[in-house]
Amino acid sequence: MSEKRSETVIRRDRFSGGPARGFMSSLQADERIFAADLAVDRAHTLMLVEQEILSESEAGAILGALETVEADGHSALPDGEDVHEAIESAVIGHIGPDGGKMHTARSRNDEVAACIRYQLRADIIDAIEATIALREGLIETARKHVETTMPGYTHLQPAQPITVAHYLLSYEATVARDTARLVDAYDRTNQSPLGGAAFAGTPFDIDRERTAELLGFDGVMRNSMDSSSARDFLAETTAALATHATTLSGLAEDLIIFANKGFVDLADAYSSTSSIMPQKKNPDTLELTRAVAGDATGALTGLLTTLKGLPRAYNRDLQRAHGHTFEAIDVVSEATLIAAGAVTTASWNDEILADAAGDGFSTATGIADLLAMAGLPFRTAHEVVADAAEAAESTDSKVTAANLDAAAQKVLGESLYEYVTAESIEDALDPHQSVVSRDSQGGPAPTAVTETLEKAVDELQIAENALVDRTSSLAAATEMRMTEVQQYV
Ligand code: ARG
Repeated sequence: MSEKRSETVIRRDRFSGGPARGFMSSLQADERIFAADLAVDRAHTLMLVEQEILSESEAGAILGALETVEADGHSALPDGEDVHEAIESAVIGHIGPDGGKMHTARSRNDEVAACIRYQLRADIIDAIEATIALREGLIETARKHVETTMPGYTHLQPAQPITVAHYLLSYEATVARDTARLVDAYDRTNQSPLGGAAFAGTPFDIDRERTAELLGFDGVMRNSMDSSSARDFLAETTAALATHATTLSGLAEDLIIFANKGFVDLADAYSSTSSIMPQKKNPDTLELTRAVAGDATGALTGLLTTLKGLPRAYNRDLQRAHGHTFEAIDVVSEATLIAAGAVTTASWNDEILADAAGDGFSTATGIADLLAMAGLPFRTAHEVVADAAEAAESTDSKVTAANLDAAAQKVLGESLYEYVTAESIEDALDPHQSVVSRDSQGGPAPTAVTETLEKAVDELQIAENALVDRTSSLAAATEMRMTEVQQYV
């Protein structure tokens, strides 16, 4: 604790003054919720005066002291077990014992829950914004590569040709769900626990709807015990972050592999060099992005382990819960923005990609599909193509129409040309034509991808609107709260 802190005004000499004092204090970590606590104190004080629990002059003095506390900043707070106690001590220090009336009809238990929710919702908005930036980057880059053929993989083996746009939009679709999970988490976070008091409510005639309104919460939690003790909003948010970090790790891993194959060049700003090997250009930003899944999953594990088996209602363990979420949200949001930047600035090497697109007889499925469309049972078609592939492999050459015809004679006792034309086979063997043919909804054909792009853009707009709604309702609440405060100071 900083030596600058003055003597605490709240008397806790009997407890927590000993060797465990530092261990029990969360004051330093609470810097994250300093502004939130001031907002919660103001809303609570306004509600108390409106309910005539405080006089106008008492409320005015408290609200005035809070302005000074805010101007002085977190580092000027007196010592205390946490930011709530320290701010109250500072208020009492400025205006005398009546400052203690600020804590009427509440407890630090509902207060801290309100502060965490207040701060976290702003952080969730930042995280949502980052996912939107990433989706924009993926969509923008996809738009340029609707026709860029590339190999698609399963088991990291060449499987079927696709396009760069189809690949990028596959991640855009996942990130869209990550955004939606964060919006869900936001909505359940943005509920007011204030008025729950320690856990068992209060005999004062409080107005919980009013504090919720002054703080921009969408509603009031219905049970006082749940209000003060539930932290499932942290679990849900952190799970959404860990899920998204896992999405990012897959995208990063792919791009690392693609850079290694020469498919994509990362911009210098997203690369790093070696301190010894001057020729090196390493995808460090993507490797760090990949690693963030470890941070987020670690945070989720730490959080759930802290929460597991806690009896109702408040337990001090909870002081160590939200830090996990704050740590995760910072690093995941940053990694998301880095991924967005890396994707947007990378350049895809069309020629290398086109060359590689046919690797490993990646058009085999397309040939089998062609034969099946001409009336052969798919399993028989599969057998014909497998036989041709085996023959080509034994001579280390690419599969040709002639290989396929020989295989058909062997498997079917008939020529392939009984079913399809040589031209259609040549087309199906061509990676780009193979892509063009797969025009089912959501597929890689440029026509299908163009439709997917439109859907992605529409959904992105919906997500942006959801963000604007929430951000502006928070801003309106802050404005209303500060206008009300001005009536008393
Ligand atoms: N600083 C505590 C927390 O973060 C809130 C204080 C409530 N303390 C208590 N002993 N009831 O959870």
